Amino acid sequence: MKAFQIQEFGQDGLRMAEVPAPEPGYGEVLVDLKAASLNYRDLLMVEGLYDGRMPLPLIPLSDGAGVVSKLGEGVTGLKVGDRVAGAFFQSWICGRYSHEKARGALGGPLPGTLAEQMVLRAEAAVPIPEHLTFEEAATLPCAGVTAWNALFAKDPLQPGESVLVQGTGGVSIFALQFAVAAGASVVVTSSSDEKLARAISLGAASGVNYRLHPHWGKDVRNLTGGGVDRVIEVGGAETLAQSLDAVRFGGRVEVIGVLSGVKAEVPTTMILHKAIEMRGIYVGSVEMFAAMNRAISTNNIQPVIGEVFGFEEAPKALRLLESAAHFGKIVIRVA
Ligand SMILES: NC(=O)c1ccc[n+]([C@@H]2O[C@H](COP(=O)([O-])OP(=O)(O)OC[C@H]3O[C@@H](n4cnc5c(N)ncnc54)[C@H](OP(=O)(O)O)[C@@H]3O)[C@@H](O)[C@H]2O)c1
Repeated sequence: MKAFQIQEFGQDGLRMAEVPAPEPGYGEVLVDLKAASLNYRDLLMVEGLYDGRMPLPLIPLSDGAGVVSKLGEGVTGLKVGDRVAGAFFQSWICGRYSHEKARGALGGPLPGTLAEQMVLRAEAAVPIPEHLTFEEAATLPCAGVTAWNALFAKDPLQPGESVLVQGTGGVSIFALQFAVAAGASVVVTSSSDEKLARAISLGAASGVNYRLHPHWGKDVRNLTGGGVDRVIEVGGAETLAQSLDAVRFGGRVEVIGVLSGVKAEVPTTMILHKAIEMRGIYVGSVEMFAAMNRAISTNNIQPVIGEVFGFEEAPKALRLLESAAHFGKIVIRVA
């Protein structure tokens, strides 16, 4: 089968190759992939910045959707022809997160979705909502489940509450859509007024251009009468202090991303004076994926795809992600 492999770290080391088709073992299924989607993590993985000791060659990308084409022994609950997406963590089915559950991520260390076929654990091959195309469903496993976990897995967001989402990439646009569907009010930050207008057309109540307003935490407090209930913190080094400023007393900061770097100066006293709750998020479980899919079906949510590329164009798709010119998700059509 055809697959892209990271043969050496760096974007030039991402190459198409002919590799043996995988075979499903006990409790596993073979999936013919139809579409894959990109996450910021994939860029870090290709560059060797996620884990420079990750064994190569590696088929990258954690997210994809396709059709079950073969069942391994002992598989129940799935049949050939089912439309599924692979859970990011093949080993986190339900319950609390743990070190063991973190070991089974697709696209590093497990083979990823930038391939014509892949093997999934049957338990972690999640049926996709009927109203979604494969391209739409391919956006769900990492960005969608992360946004869902941040909003609903602990102290679920309540109607009438407010949420801040940063930028207009994959996680943030899912969080915007889920929060709007839940009856919350959303403030979005972006580097671009045009992207802010698109976010408002998706239901955001207001937006702040963080390039024009570098101290946007105060702007967000002014817009929301004292601060938001919850922040979807994807910016990292350059945004964490502003997020702590933007959240209300007793509010929550869901710590997710590192778009502007990993090392931040943290105003610790603000955390305790405002009694802010901070929680690290690492995608989520199959159980969360299934709960998210029920909400997507019930609310007829359509994932926002910025651009779709052909399989051979995967390196070009990665460059678009790196440029941050996209809005929502970037998808690669596999078949
Ligand atoms: N912990 C987890 O489980 C988990 C899961 C998924 C993702 N993540 C992390 O979350 C982050 C977002 O991932 P993603 O896949 O959604 O990324 P993405 O689609 O590449 O999002 C990029 C967008 O974020 C905005 N952005 C870039 N730098 C920013 C900054 N300094 N401040 C505010 N916004 C900024 C830009 O939007 P504008 O052009 O509108 O400004 C950019 O287009 C990444 O760091 C990723 O590694 C973590």
